[in-house]
Amino acid sequence: MSRPRRFVELSLDKHSWSPSPLLGQVVLVTSVDAHGVIDVAPKSWASMAAFAGPIVGFGCNVDHGTYRNIESTGEFVINVPDGSLAERTWNMLASPRDERITQSGLTLRRGRTVAAPFVVECPAHLECHLYQTIAFPKGEVFIFGTISSIAVEEACLTDELSERYHALNPNTVQLDHHGLFG
Ligand SMILES: Cc1cc2nc3c(=O)[nH]c(=O)nc-3n(C[C@H](O)[C@H](O)[C@H](O)COP(=O)(O)O)c2cc1C
Repeated sequence: MSRPRRFVELSLDKHSWSPSPLLGQVVLVTSVDAHGVIDVAPKSWASMAAFAGPIVGFGCNVDHGTYRNIESTGEFVINVPDGSLAERTWNMLASPRDERITQSGLTLRRGRTVAAPFVVECPAHLECHLYQTIAFPKGEVFIFGTISSIAVEEACLTDELSERYHALNPNTVQLDHHGLFG
């Protein structure tokens, strides 16, 4: 006979959640400021939001360069790294913002519909125009963007549908590092 399932109530302090039950998929958001200076930052509270648009969104802090750039230029790209980029994604923040791209060895290329570049090493990217920002207390926001172009590496478009997510090999939050943004 199986044991009855027992639940442990967690604190409402999100920082303490481990495991964090709603796992975020780690993405790299690229943006540019008004002078064209490029920023890349990992974000993991990212999700599709609506078919119509289509609209995608992610959580951000208003102190972040990513937020400031998007407020200023109204554009960004969500790059979807695969598992092979996990270490580089986590190590990225060890470098100052203006050295992240060179230190991580990522290649940037001009996109089709926005000035922010996409990351060539990522098997998928979504170019977006700012749709709306929802502000929460204490300096957090959710940024919604209308997708103006989306591209997926050809190798992910296998004939066998069940293989397609394997080919994308998504980089979910590595819980052994920390669960803060899980
Ligand atoms: C794996 C991972 C996931 C992250 N997810 C988020 C997130 O969802 N939202 C957020 O505001 N910051 C997140 N961060 C922290 C930002 O990447 C970090 O604060 C960064 O310095 C912001 O860069 P920016 O100022 O260039 O935007 C995450 C960091 C890592 C390593």
